[in-house]
Amino acid sequence: MSRQILVTNALPYANGDIHLGHLVGYIQADIWVRYQRMQGHTVHYVCADDTHGTPVMLRAEKEGITPEALINRVHGEHLRDFTDFDVTFDNYHSTHSAENRQFAEDIYGKLQAAGLIETRAIEQFYDPVKAMFLPDRFIKGECPKCGALDQYGDNCEVCGAAYAPTDLKNPVSAVSGAKPEMRSSEHYFFKLSDPRAVDFLRDWTQGSDANGARRLQSEAANKMKEWLGEPGENKLSDWDISRDAPYFGFEIPGAPGKYFYVWLDAPIGYFASFKNLADKTGRIDISRFIDGAAAGKSNTELVHFIGKDILYFHALFWPAMLHFAGYRTPTQLAVNGFLTVDGAKMSKSRGTFITARSYTEQKLNPAWLRYYFAAKSNGTMEDVDLNLDDMIAKVNSDLVGKFINIASRCAGFITKRFDGKLAAPDLDAMAVYRSSIEAGEVARAFEGRDYSRALREIMRLADAANQYVNDHKPWELVKDPANTERLHVVCSTALNQFRVLAGLLKPILPTVAEQVEAFLDIPPLRWSQLTDTLPAGHAIAPYGHMLTRVERKQIDALIEANKASLAPTPAPEASSRQRHAEAQQKDAQAATTADAHIGIDDFTKVDLRIARIVSAEHVEGADKLLRLQLDIGEDKPRQVFAGIKSAYDPATLVGRHTVMVANLAPRKMKFGMSEGMVLAASDDTGATPGLFILSPDAGATPGMRVK
Ligand code: 2FM
Ligand code: ZN
Repeated sequence: MSRQILVTNALPYANGDIHLGHLVGYIQADIWVRYQRMQGHTVHYVCADDTHGTPVMLRAEKEGITPEALINRVHGEHLRDFTDFDVTFDNYHSTHSAENRQFAEDIYGKLQAAGLIETRAIEQFYDPVKAMFLPDRFIKGECPKCGALDQYGDNCEVCGAAYAPTDLKNPVSAVSGAKPEMRSSEHYFFKLSDPRAVDFLRDWTQGSDANGARRLQSEAANKMKEWLGEPGENKLSDWDISRDAPYFGFEIPGAPGKYFYVWLDAPIGYFASFKNLADKTGRIDISRFIDGAAAGKSNTELVHFIGKDILYFHALFWPAMLHFAGYRTPTQLAVNGFLTVDGAKMSKSRGTFITARSYTEQKLNPAWLRYYFAAKSNGTMEDVDLNLDDMIAKVNSDLVGKFINIASRCAGFITKRFDGKLAAPDLDAMAVYRSSIEAGEVARAFEGRDYSRALREIMRLADAANQYVNDHKPWELVKDPANTERLHVVCSTALNQFRVLAGLLKPILPTVAEQVEAFLDIPPLRWSQLTDTLPAGHAIAPYGHMLTRVERKQIDALIEANKASLAPTPAPEASSRQRHAEAQQKDAQAATTADAHIGIDDFTKVDLRIARIVSAEHVEGADKLLRLQLDIGEDKPRQVFAGIKSAYDPATLVGRHTVMVANLAPRKMKFGMSEGMVLAASDDTGATPGLFILSPDAGATPGMRVK
């Protein structure tokens, strides 16, 4: 029976690049979608950018653009990356959309009507300079456990401790550097601790869909048991779903100045993208997929592919929200592990934090990565290791050496000797193929997302084809005209085997499969036709090379390219996020975090100059600022406002030489334009109070470059 499935991938944040860690889950989902379609099922595959929240707001501000302009730009970049890796969504939308607002308001309204929304005042860190409440990831200080400096407000990257931001010693706002204050504000909560929600989740997380398949992989279901506690126990806390202005998001109806927390409307974005698709095509009745009652009757499926760091959101908050708002709940969560590279966490300084863009820019073939990720994906939540030497070996020996090789060894004979026309294949030699497909091993493995098992069986069949060619030696047969007919059958058989292999590999390697379809001049391969053979007389096109081997130097260049561009990451690196997700059970919103190292290219972007302080004066109405005029060898001095009033009498500064950042974008301040920045040292721990501007050695003159 034909299935109807809505498939989604986790929505990437709109404040960072797509990297190979993301691609694990996207490629796994795309393979599954393509496999289902080859089986004749109807799949709607949607995704979107996750656009709301503080990091997007602050990044846009830093770039001097609106959040809307930022998310539009990133939308284009993300879509281009996915397209390059053959991750082909039916729709790629945005959570900052009319559809999403409508669904978010509807779901919220229904939860409110069900008595599951409550308000409560909470105390939180507030940045008095930026006039905003600070998410945990924007507070830094000393780890309360090990004392490591410069740790985020939720967990320590050095010792792994998880804590509340209020536990940090000497906290500072990562946004302005100000000392945060505790302030109270009213927040909206989704009452997850309500016995109705707890009972529902206890049942839902351990349950199966209408067809008897478990909703959660066993590891995920076990995790849920841990999080929910024993029956009778209630370990769930209510979920804080509001944030105060300023915030980039949707204002909560009836609550001026309060916004839906990004994680409230992020998963709703799945439905928003689907509705947007339906409105564009006019051919999908979305209620059958998302409405609680209609979906129950129509037997449609909803499958979410996600990373294990966001399991909490998808297995607790999301189904509870949906259920109590009258929507359908997910049929299945397909949860993948993190990506490691050569056995270690992805690292910027080692060049293994590899962006999708750098991979294509370095001209590596996305098919290689799809193949390798498939070979390492077994349908569990285990981490996937990208072992670079192993990737080279697998792609070269299996994909090129075993699969592509079959066609390259036989096609020439057909083209040159038989006018491009095939003979009927040797059915005995095809039997191993037929029986494998009829036994359904590969199909079951694809269905269960155990692509590594699928590939083991496919490579067993590829070995059989190569063995067949080796046994019959077309290069020998061609030498004796008496063997012409045999030569024709052998090469035709091998190409029929090649056709089946291309069909089996098609979900993983869609572009290669298309090339094979063009070469064999056949319509798009479907699963049900894989036991067929091409008839005698079928004409094929001349063979053109389909896939090259990976060379070590290409991988080395990729690593070098990623070492060189140490752009800030969109999100904390994987394992710390995992700790964070489990320990805090909340706030997986990303923040920018920089690796310990930057490249020289990054450093030289900063234009540091020797400056002579021509004048220095107090600024009326400013508590912290001095107005400086700085000579850096230009026609006229630059005006810079420096926050050093507490440490310097302006008269003592005049005539001194110091160091300024000369290429900082000019900033309009309340008191006028600031055209640069003066560097000063301070002790973040507060042990040595004061501010200390820099002085060059005698002899340095205005305008000299500091490098
Ligand atoms: O963790 C993340 O990258 C989130 N942007 C995922 C959101 S998935 C869904 F809920 F929208
Ligand atoms: Zn620590």
